[in-house]
This record gives sequence, C-alpha cells and structure tokens, in this order.
Amino acid sequence: MSSEDSVSRRRFMRTATGAAAAAGAAGASAGTAAGQSTTEVAVGPDGSLVFEPATVNIAPGDTVHWVWESDLHNIVVESQPEGANWEGTEGDANTTYDTGHEYEFTFETEGTYAYYCQPHRTSGMVGEVVVGGSGGGGGGGGNESGGSGPPPIPGSARTLGIATGFGMLSTLGLAYFFMRYGGDYGNDEE
Ligand code: CU
Repeated sequence: MSSEDSVSRRRFMRTATGAAAAAGAAGASAGTAAGQSTTEVAVGPDGSLVFEPATVNIAPGDTVHWVWESDLHNIVVESQPEGANWEGTEGDANTTYDTGHEYEFTFETEGTYAYYCQPHRTSGMVGEVVVGGSGGGGGGGGNESGGSGPPPIPGSARTLGIATGFGMLSTLGLAYFFMRYGGDYGNDEE
C-alpha cells in the first residue's frame, strides 16, 4: 500500500522532470550571443596534455581566456595571420606556468592562429583559434570568398548548461510542491 504510494509518486516526479526540461529547452533559445564574448579554454584539464577545447571559433574583438588546470604548460604561438601580433604566454618557450594561472588575449585580426604547449608539443598539446567566419583553406591571394555559412557559436554549451540549471530548479520546486501537498492527490486516484 505504502509502496504503491511511492510508485505513483515516482511516476509523478518523472513527468514533472520531463516538463521542466522541456520548459528549460524552450527558454534556452531565447538567449542571444551577440557582441563581444569571452571563450574559456582549459589548459591540461585533469592532468591530460590537451587544450580543451582544442579549437575555438570566435569573432574579431572576442577574447579567449585560458585557465591552467595542471602544471608546467605554456602557450607558444606557431603561426598567425599577417599583421597580427599575438605572443602567447609571457617569457620564452621554456617558461611554463602552473595550476591556477590565467592568461587571456583579445583577437582583432581575422584568420587562424595555431599554438602549442612547448613541453608537451610532441604529445599533441596543440590548439587553434579561428577568428572570423572563414578560417579554413590555404593562404589565398586577393580572392574574396563569401561567407560560408554561420560560424559555430561557442556559447551554446554554456547556454545549455544554464537551461539545465533552470530545469533542475523547476523540478525541485515541483517536487517540493508534490511532497508537501501530494498526499491527498495520490489517494483520490485509486
Ligand atoms: Cu603542456
């Protein structure tokens, strides 16, 4: 008897969760990603020898913010567009930084910037910042190719996270409501 109560309660909770998730997803599409933004890149997360994400796509004027999550890493610029003056982390290629270090740079010049971590370059610890829509292709001359589709929006993952947060809050609210007032509701059904 009391076990049946608990079953029906669980079913109700599941339904409530679905509704909340749907509401959260609908709310997410209302968000906008215009204007300057900052993209986070983790340096050596969980001790792995990677930049995460390895490739970021941004618009001119956007900032990339690197946060060290393990030790002995740096950012050395391998290549960048003509006219750009990115220098990577301060110091020479043998200067490394440890957990908690933060570094950021605002990219103004369109094009592809390739960089690597000097101590772990051979382990594949490399990254890329693509500024502007058309990052790919070889070095073309004065050939202007039109926009090739909308660039990926780096903020979408964050937006999804926020939506999930809202969904969970709604679920908690519904769960609380049910636990507080749900007793009578369950008895009516059978
Ligand atoms: Cu490294």
